[in-house]
Amino acid sequence: MDDKKIIFSGIQPTGCITLGNYVGALKNWVDLQHDYHCLFSVVDLHSITVRQDPKLLRKRCMEFLTQYLAAGIDGEENIVYFQSHVPGHAELGWILNCYTYMGELNRMTQFKDKSAKHADNINAGLFTYPVLMAADILLYQTDLVPVGVDQKQHLELARDIAGRFNGIYGDVFKVPEAFIPKEGARIMSLQDPTSKMSKSDPNVNGFISILDDTDTIMRKFKKAVTDSDGLIAYSDDKPGIKNLINIYSAITHKTPDEVVAEFDGMGYGQFKTAVGEVVSDELRPIRERYEDLSKNKDYITKIYTQGAQRAAGMARRTLNKVKRKVGYVDGVL
Ligand code: TYM
Repeated sequence: MDDKKIIFSGIQPTGCITLGNYVGALKNWVDLQHDYHCLFSVVDLHSITVRQDPKLLRKRCMEFLTQYLAAGIDGEENIVYFQSHVPGHAELGWILNCYTYMGELNRMTQFKDKSAKHADNINAGLFTYPVLMAADILLYQTDLVPVGVDQKQHLELARDIAGRFNGIYGDVFKVPEAFIPKEGARIMSLQDPTSKMSKSDPNVNGFISILDDTDTIMRKFKKAVTDSDGLIAYSDDKPGIKNLINIYSAITHKTPDEVVAEFDGMGYGQFKTAVGEVVSDELRPIRERYEDLSKNKDYITKIYTQGAQRAAGMARRTLNKVKRKVGYVDGVL
């Protein structure tokens, strides 16, 4: 292999891919894809920590992978695949479970949030989820993990686990770095700007799907909750407006100060329309490519099959090393 560094990242196939996922992660994958060796996975193993309808899950997995490609990920140059097709994720996940402390997992804020939301199904998978995520990353000797800021704590745990394992057995794992965008690392709900835009929000007006059409996008931005003082300013006291500035800024690559200057003296209505327009212009080509690509099932199958084969080869190398270090007898497979 050449000296290009390695990127791994993934999105859970739950709900739909939102504008938050797009500016926090997917858009950056597209920007970074030619400068790194990249693995982009639909992390389906993670999704069953919350109960899923099997038929819907299968359909959604295909839709997510197709949206990666529609967003501009080159599926030939990069490795695009389903996590469940590469057994190494679960295998390494088990091993790393034995190098992770309950106390560490207890501190994960996402576990606390999700167990509050799904109080009737606080399963062990939900608790050990960050270990599987660490395995996803460490399996490929990943250098860089482009994610939104909500995944920072999980990334830090992955680094701690890698460091601990390396401390016992020598240099087995690369210790990964997070890549968190400056603008758009945490897009908030359009209906409640104090909570994260979430793909499983039951209120569809809270999020933008990257497949929403122009009318829907414009309507959702028009309805976006703001304050009533009418001033376009970038301040924590104005979470609704701050969120819209962040969205505009992430899409146009302008700084929040530049955005504030651009809309100086204008009303919220005008500003919301402008944000809706840039978002809609950004997402239109994705939606169009998605419509074309989803007709071409053979091509999609080819991409994820070759993706899994290439990923499995890389995973095998790390796993063999890990197993030897731990003390297992060399196997025949
Ligand atoms: P998930 O599926 O919740 O989100 C996918 C990616 O989108 C980012 N993101 C956001 N960014 C900005 N604003 C938001 N409102 C927003 N919501 C989500 C997330 O930070 C993430 O980058 N555990 C991960 C999936 C995962 C993973 C991995 C990621 C599993 N294994 C290994 C990286 C590497 C998750 O649930 O992301």
